[in-house]
Amino acid sequence: MAPRSILITGCSSGIGLTCAEGLARRGWRVFATVRKAEDVAPLAAQGLEALVLDLRDPNSISQAVQTVLERTGGTLDALFNNGAYGQPGAVEDLTREVLREQFETNLFGTHELTCQVIPVMRRQGHGRIVQNSSLLGLVGLPYRGAYVASKYALEGLTDTLRLELTGSGIEVALIEPGPITSRFRANAMAMFRQHIEVANSPHREVYQRVQARLEKLGPAAPFTLPPEAVLTKLIHALESRRPQARYYVTFPTYLFATLRRLLTHRMLDGVLLRVSRGENR
Ligand SMILES: NC(=O)c1ccc[n+]([C@@H]2O[C@H](COP(=O)([O-])OP(=O)(O)OC[C@H]3O[C@@H](n4cnc5c(N)ncnc54)[C@H](OP(=O)(O)O)[C@@H]3O)[C@@H](O)[C@H]2O)c1
Repeated sequence: MAPRSILITGCSSGIGLTCAEGLARRGWRVFATVRKAEDVAPLAAQGLEALVLDLRDPNSISQAVQTVLERTGGTLDALFNNGAYGQPGAVEDLTREVLREQFETNLFGTHELTCQVIPVMRRQGHGRIVQNSSLLGLVGLPYRGAYVASKYALEGLTDTLRLELTGSGIEVALIEPGPITSRFRANAMAMFRQHIEVANSPHREVYQRVQARLEKLGPAAPFTLPPEAVLTKLIHALESRRPQARYYVTFPTYLFATLRRLLTHRMLDGVLLRVSRGENR
């Protein structure tokens, strides 16, 4: 029997890389996609089928899907929508362009890719779509507005898609990681430097502290787990007979998923402000 196949986005580092390697070890045929052409060779050297897929670019998405289907003979068992980045900055300091860029990658590209894969899964009568969302798809935090908005939007599209695909044989799941060791923080820092004007912002003093936090080496956030923690949940979402709608990863996710059900909005805001003040001290 042919091995089960999966396309994963954002495999240059972090969760995507760990999940590509882990699933390949379990016998999956992994199409590990990366944004930049120079990241193909290191993955290929590990024996992974690596190809370019830049979520901002519709041609890149179509090209990657076409290549995968040519290689598999027109089938694809699973899609892990993992590629994304965090654009830090206060909501009032986000230009329309910067917010749009955040959505181009984290939502629109992911949506376009998913829509190209669904017909393949419908034809074959089965499929698994797993979305890498975030704890910040469940609750907001100051200075993460662009990212939070993109993940809330992903949650909304995914909850709807899951309902619409009922009975199609395609299962849709969300993974909600809290802090995970990866290049996420370094990449977010680069986006902050590139896109946020610190000098003219009413938030400049906090920004200086945020910069210091993001530049810190090692796991800055408490309860940080390695990316293997996400791999474990991904394997369940892909291989179990009854995948869950949501998979929580890390203690903070379990905590805030519970608190947002139990507390009033005002009380939850109080807790989130304390967390934010703590990390931006
Ligand atoms: N780390 C955490 O604490 C955490 C917590 C909750 C959720 N998550 C989610 O986990 C996922 C993976 O993040 P990570 O923690 O592994 O961070 P990471 O190490 O920064 O990996 C992010 C991956 O996404 C890729 N990417 C960025 N823009 C892209 C685009 N336009 N097209 C295709 N790929 C793109 C990056 O490629 P380049 O290297 O080329 O930029 C990289 O491969 C993301 O969805 C993130 O929101 C992470």
